[in-house]
Amino acid sequence: MNKSLQPVVINQNILEMEYAVRGAIPQRAAQLEKAGFKTIPCNIGNPQALGQKPLSFYRQVLSLVVNPPDNLTKKKAGLNSGGGLAEDILSTAETILKNMPSGTGAYTASSGPRFIREAIARFIDERDRPAAVDFVPADPDRIFLTNGASEGAKYILELLISDPADGIMIPIPQYPLYSATIRKCGGTQVNYYPDEDRGWKIDRDILEEAYGSATARGITVKCIVVINPGNPTGAIADENTIREVIEFADEKGLAIVADEVYQENMYGASFRSFAAVLGKRAVPLFSLHSISKGYSGECGHRGGYLEVRNAPAVRNSILTFLDVLQKLASVSLCSNTVGQILTYLMVSPPRPGDPSYENHLREKNYILDELLRKATLIKAAFKKMAGVESFGRIGAMYLFPRLDLLPRGKTDFDYCMSLLETTGLCTVNGSGFGQKEGTSHLRIAFLPPGELLEEVLPKWIEFHNRYVGQ
Ligand SMILES: Cc1ncc(COP(=O)(O)O)c(C=O)c1O
Repeated sequence: MNKSLQPVVINQNILEMEYAVRGAIPQRAAQLEKAGFKTIPCNIGNPQALGQKPLSFYRQVLSLVVNPPDNLTKKKAGLNSGGGLAEDILSTAETILKNMPSGTGAYTASSGPRFIREAIARFIDERDRPAAVDFVPADPDRIFLTNGASEGAKYILELLISDPADGIMIPIPQYPLYSATIRKCGGTQVNYYPDEDRGWKIDRDILEEAYGSATARGITVKCIVVINPGNPTGAIADENTIREVIEFADEKGLAIVADEVYQENMYGASFRSFAAVLGKRAVPLFSLHSISKGYSGECGHRGGYLEVRNAPAVRNSILTFLDVLQKLASVSLCSNTVGQILTYLMVSPPRPGDPSYENHLREKNYILDELLRKATLIKAAFKKMAGVESFGRIGAMYLFPRLDLLPRGKTDFDYCMSLLETTGLCTVNGSGFGQKEGTSHLRIAFLPPGELLEEVLPKWIEFHNRYVGQ
């Protein structure tokens, strides 16, 4: 055989990693679509794919910045005479262009332009100062702009996993970015199991059990990941839970990854960040945020940031952790500039009194209210399905009901595949996120337009009750 046609050995870790959110069920949905069958993609939190409109403020500023008119300043001066764009849209675009004089087509600093990191620090401080006990301001030099939160999570796991016995504690169920990245980096996944019947609550006993059994197996646990609000469960961690996690991490010498991309997606509770509760405690904390979720929904533009507090010292090196992180980011040169600009707009929205404020607020509230309405519709449908229980408050963009009455020999994967084939609803099987042995679930993103849900939910109820033999 020609030598160049021989099979290559590729990285086994990548070969083995799994990512169910784009796994066999969505792949089948794509085939069905190709064959002309209409499907509803509820497998992923991708709001604009399901009709959510981008925020006008974001896109108007972005258009000006990506393709600036020669006379932006003149246009601004002549505003009142010619209609067109509001003053704050023009001045925001002007601020961005002034700070990015080479425009959007040039590489930026690897951690992102400083004015954006400063705006992020102001946003974090404004969010956290009122609730923090021992308030510590954010530092723009410890903020890294990233291509979505995914990249920030990968940076940290890549840095922390240096040995197959290095353990990363992750909640089960979890967003498979974490299991896949741990696998890719060759580390060990250490599962902890939030208590479903108590609304997916985390407590000290749960954490101790996971930690104890991992260390007994010779694993060096280095970090704990908390997703708040949770994906796929939608669970919301209150301040006491966050404090308990921080105390646990402090005692065991662990770093914390706080994935807070859904911080705007919570109903019936207010958001507490890990940074606010951490205060002056010297626990390493890596917090993630994104333009993909909340009411921004700008998934395709890949923007977000990683904020570092109490970076740990690096053994056997004169480099600091931040130096190494900087080096890692610099290998990709910089995150994309459109994502950077949208991140800036997310953290610097119009203020009360600004011309765009009322419209921005209206659009934001509409999106958030619709999400709640749709989640409530789906939750109500679960009540009509035999043996379906959905625990906890509504958070993030997902519901993760337990399926208690699957016929013998059928898995949640089989159920989701049949649901897709019968109704067009594309969901993800609970096993794709991990789940307690002996339980079955599915995850649905509550994003499709209300009318579509109203049409498909009765079909789902009928399918379900037939499937489970009720
Ligand atoms: C918990 C969680 N973290 C991170 C991400 C990735 O977000 P991004 O688009 O910012 O990379 C997602 C996406 O669904 C998510 O659910």
